[in-house]
Amino acid sequence: MKPEWKAWAQEAKNEFPRANSALMPLMHRIQLSEGWLSNETIRDVAELMELPVQYVESVASFYSLFHRQAVGKRVIHVCVGLSCALKGSDELMHALEERLGIKEGQTTEDGAYTLLEAECLAACDKAPMVQVNLRYEGPVRPEDAERLLSEEVPS
Ligand code: FES
Repeated sequence: MKPEWKAWAQEAKNEFPRANSALMPLMHRIQLSEGWLSNETIRDVAELMELPVQYVESVASFYSLFHRQAVGKRVIHVCVGLSCALKGSDELMHALEERLGIKEGQTTEDGAYTLLEAECLAACDKAPMVQVNLRYEGPVRPEDAERLLSEEVPS
């Protein structure tokens, strides 16, 4: 456990007096610092928030913005929900896999990109939808893959 995490936990608890409400802000802050949430981090967070490890794990694994494995600088989520699937998210995923030289679930060797599936990104009217870090975009077509990978994105 990093020494600053205790202070961060206390700040989260001050802002959200219920531990389970303060949990996500704390995990978000730690992930920004560490890049992802390891099993050890999950145990540390549970201890800091005085919550069961299983509860912390369930929250971390439910939300796609929490990463339970090391990821690249840019995390690309391609929505594979029904609306996006009907609008060609499969073809988009294949175009990105080909361009990056990796398969879904993998990270490029240089650590620049991770390619993941997402369930509905809540913008079905813009299918097929893509999320790159905190930026959402749609519709994105296979021919947009090159542009998508070259643009600046917020971390
Ligand atoms: S199914 Fe893709 S945004 Fe809803």
